[in-house]
Amino acid sequence: MEILHDTMAMQQRTLALRAAGKTISFVPTMGYLHAGHLSLLREGRARGDVLVLSIFVNPTQFGPNEDLDSYPRDMENDLALARSAGVDLVWAPLPKQVYPEGYATYVDVERLTDLLCGASRPGHFRGVTTIVCKLFNVVQPQVALFGQKDFQQLTVIRRMVTDLNIPVEIAGMPIVREADGLAMSSRNVYLSTEQRRQALVLSQSIMTAQRLARSGECDSSAILAVLRQKIEAESEARIDYLQICHQLTLEDQKRVDADSVLLLAVFIGKTRLIDNSFLL
Ligand code: PAJ
Repeated sequence: MEILHDTMAMQQRTLALRAAGKTISFVPTMGYLHAGHLSLLREGRARGDVLVLSIFVNPTQFGPNEDLDSYPRDMENDLALARSAGVDLVWAPLPKQVYPEGYATYVDVERLTDLLCGASRPGHFRGVTTIVCKLFNVVQPQVALFGQKDFQQLTVIRRMVTDLNIPVEIAGMPIVREADGLAMSSRNVYLSTEQRRQALVLSQSIMTAQRLARSGECDSSAILAVLRQKIEAESEARIDYLQICHQLTLEDQKRVDADSVLLLAVFIGKTRLIDNSFLL
């Protein structure tokens, strides 16, 4: 496994691989790898000749009062996991090279980014689309893998790739969960034992909503009322949003159908957790 930091070196490497006819699959991450990331790497391994992993805690997608400084990092462990997942090339860019003095260019996907996480984290998706576009320009992958855990991020990236004619296939991968249902996230380490227990209310809410929808309840507000009560019963939980949306437009849906996705963001103490699922 090769580890590169320099942007030009990485771009030259991937240009040479493309010229040699290799298929590049790519998994962008912010590191602190867990089984969710590893599932993307496994699929990426199967879909390309060369598997590239990027590790970069991207400052432009964090708000001024968010956890950029405390975001968990463990490069040594990440590299060991990457090696065992069959990664060929790790790119861990240098922040100074990614956003040098005078940097002034951003990618902004409209509308989709005003909703859900975009409403509570202004500027977040502008940072995500900007870095992902830059990573694509350097890595030049034919396929890039993203988790459905970040459902809105996946939707926004698909929109960007379509709108900007970026020649890459975006593969969306299922959410990987802990045995008790909690969606894996690098931020789960912030939770105390009691908060970790209360965090189960997210995945349990999804199961409740699915049970209601599958037994014929198709009024979104009725389902959401049940969930709101369930979540608010947890002392450390504070709902950021709880919505049933159309999978493509992310607009609220009054009635549940096959396109309906339940999306929720809940603070457990100071830690903001997200989860989602189709209902039918
Ligand atoms: P990060 O949170 O490190 O996630 C990297 C990728 O792993 C994303 O596509 C995310 O959806 C996926 N992922 C995270 N948890 C998962 C889980 N439990 N199951 C399946 N996939 C999961 O998302 C980012 O980084 C950044 O925004 C990034 C796209 C790298 C841009 O900076």
